[in-house]
Amino acid sequence: MLIAQITDIHIRAKSDLVAGRFDNTASFAETVKTIAEMAQKPDILLVTGDIADSGKVSEYEVFRQIIEQLAIPYLLLPGNHDKRDAMRQVFADHGYLPQHGPLNWVVDNYPLRLIGLDSLVDDKPYGMVSGETLNWLDARLAETDRQTLIAIHHPPFSSGMKSMDAISCLNGDEMAEIVSKYQHVIITTSGHQHRSVQTIWAGTMANICPATSPQIPLILGVETTPQIIKEPPSFQIHYKRDNQPLVTHTIPVGDFGGLVDV
Ligand SMILES: [Fe+2]
Ligand SMILES: [Fe+2]
Repeated sequence: MLIAQITDIHIRAKSDLVAGRFDNTASFAETVKTIAEMAQKPDILLVTGDIADSGKVSEYEVFRQIIEQLAIPYLLLPGNHDKRDAMRQVFADHGYLPQHGPLNWVVDNYPLRLIGLDSLVDDKPYGMVSGETLNWLDARLAETDRQTLIAIHHPPFSSGMKSMDAISCLNGDEMAEIVSKYQHVIITTSGHQHRSVQTIWAGTMANICPATSPQIPLILGVETTPQIIKEPPSFQIHYKRDNQPLVTHTIPVGDFGGLVDV
């Protein structure tokens, strides 16, 4: 099974460049083109939040128009820049999205069970998993021992990037108490941090997928003002084969001159 993860797309109106220079919609379109050109087509796309920069219906419509060029099923989670109601409106045909409350979901029709957790706290940059979501997660993990991927926008662990840790999933420890009870969770994957990060957390692999929009510079241990850096837009492939551990590959997007025989 091949899962492509894309995150932190931050779609904006066409003329609204980030810092006057970065076109988030163009870099997303380039990412989609790179996925389309892969030799092996992903089975599903996992979109882990900050889809729209301002949560506007028009931004989700642009996202939808671009992603559907791939003709691959996709699963959506909200990030801190998203609005649940606008997502429900534009993706009303996405039957896995609940009509009310947190946008938590479980998708069972793949070799890997996929669980999405809503960590959005309205109008706040940080995330939290509500008591309702934690109870829901515990119940879902208790009902089967099928191997499971958990996706959540805000990382539930500290990366050491102090300014980002301050706005991560603030009650990640409560989530860890639940996840660590179940050995069948094989990866927890996030976005939000606009960098590729991996660790072991709650007895499982924990991963952060880099953004398709600008990355955030690696600054460890000290608070900084908000900054971005022109590292390439990127996405990840999670590859799971029978009886093999899941592996995660990170793919930068851009024109690097093509393949060179050596
Ligand atoms: Fe983001
Ligand atoms: Fe975010």
